[in-house]
Amino acid sequence: MVDAFQKFDFLFKIVLIGDGAVGKTNLTTRFCQNEFNSESKSTIGVEFATKQIEVDGKNLKAQIWDTAGEERYRSITAAYYRGAVGALLVYDVTRFSTFENLPKWLGELREQADSNIQIILVGNKSDLVDNRVVSKEEGEKFARANHLSFIETSAANATNVEKAFTSLLNEIY
Ligand code: GTP
Repeated sequence: MVDAFQKFDFLFKIVLIGDGAVGKTNLTTRFCQNEFNSESKSTIGVEFATKQIEVDGKNLKAQIWDTAGEERYRSITAAYYRGAVGALLVYDVTRFSTFENLPKWLGELREQADSNIQIILVGNKSDLVDNRVVSKEEGEKFARANHLSFIETSAANATNVEKAFTSLLNEIY
């Protein structure tokens, strides 16, 4: 960790959840390292990354936990959610099943995470305009109905990635 010895005022644990291959790992690497991998493999277990940002003159450190969307690679859900103050609930705007599975993920969050956790719904892969099957309006409607904030992102071209994480951190702080 490059910033391990930098000072920070607050440490926030953020988790990413959502179906396999929706882009959780690439959203994390885009935000933390400004990198994107078009051939990334399924996450196995849990990966961590950190990033510091400044809000209102304070240094906030986000500790970001990224786990597998695929059931067979998931193991430690209780520990994953423990202490998390924010979550990015991610679906892929080009695969409807990832949108249909959102209630399942929300159910897991409500069961396992702290009841005060802040959640932002993230429709990722907005760059794939020709393959889109979930409209922005459908995403907004689901978010409204479930009291979540909402944003569409592209880890591939970096649209709104920073904004997704920083608006969540702002809501928490
Ligand atoms: P699991 O670890 O299996 O849960 O997957 P994940 O949700 O972490 O997805 P990952 O970041 O590994 O991305 C899956 C695939 O989608 C990879 O081929 C990525 O390159 C691609 N991908 C991720 N984000 C985007 C995006 O914003 N646009 C496009 N076009 N492709 C993306």
